[in-house]
Amino acid sequence: MESFLFSDERVTIHDPGIPGGGTPPLYGRRDARRYRALCMGSAEDEAMANIVLGVTGSIAAHKAIDLASQLVKLGHVVNVVLTADAQRFVTPLPFKTLSRRPVVTDLYDEEEGWKPTHITLADEADLLLVAPATANTLAKMAHGLADDALSCVALALNPSARTVVAPAMNGKMWGHAATQANVEVLKSRGVMILGPAEGLLSCGYEGVGRLLDVEAIVAGVTDLMRARGTGAQG
Ligand SMILES: Cc1cc2nc3c(=O)[nH]c(=O)nc-3n(C[C@H](O)[C@H](O)[C@H](O)COP(=O)(O)O)c2cc1C
Repeated sequence: MESFLFSDERVTIHDPGIPGGGTPPLYGRRDARRYRALCMGSAEDEAMANIVLGVTGSIAAHKAIDLASQLVKLGHVVNVVLTADAQRFVTPLPFKTLSRRPVVTDLYDEEEGWKPTHITLADEADLLLVAPATANTLAKMAHGLADDALSCVALALNPSARTVVAPAMNGKMWGHAATQANVEVLKSRGVMILGPAEGLLSCGYEGVGRLLDVEAIVAGVTDLMRARGTGAQG
């Protein structure tokens, strides 16, 4: 069974099925993706992506740990960015361990090179996935605010990357005219909105506002990346 280890500079791919020990003379995460697609050659592999997973301050933030894990298992490179409020609900540790990547928790995190981390992430991403997305972060994205690492990535995102958000919030927050207007703005810019689902909300009410099941989010991302891989419009 193949396994992939990523370091910041050199990508090392351990794959017993590849002659010569499976370490390609390639650098960079995009090269790693192409290499895997070349070696294994399935449509699934073509759809692998460099994903920035933004996690915001929702009670559903713990579900993003499973989401990160599933995306990594599918072969995606997952760079996690936690907002300050997300860190009231989850810690960087499980994300760092599961993604095998550093987790961005602050706009002013240490950078290895001269380029700020959020710009590197925005430059290299194929997909910005915000899950769960709070009403606050949706509003910031709709209005172009950039006061933390995640909102800076969203604003600096390279034009060929897609953005997907999976909102989670109290039903009244979701139904509020302000949130709905923000969602419409995001949709008009090509942002894909996954959910929210209906059910019992953590605030104790029934309604629309639950984070979509992790499996459904993964399926949405997979379809989108596959469409990108085949040149279809996603
Ligand atoms: C226990 C608790 C649960 C919360 N859950 C949500 C939620 O599911 N969705 C939401 O939009 N806001 C929720 N909030 C409010 C957000 O944490 C708050 O708006 C915060 O400013 C969001 O910041 P961020 O978008 O930068 O992560 C919750 C707050 C608390 C105290």
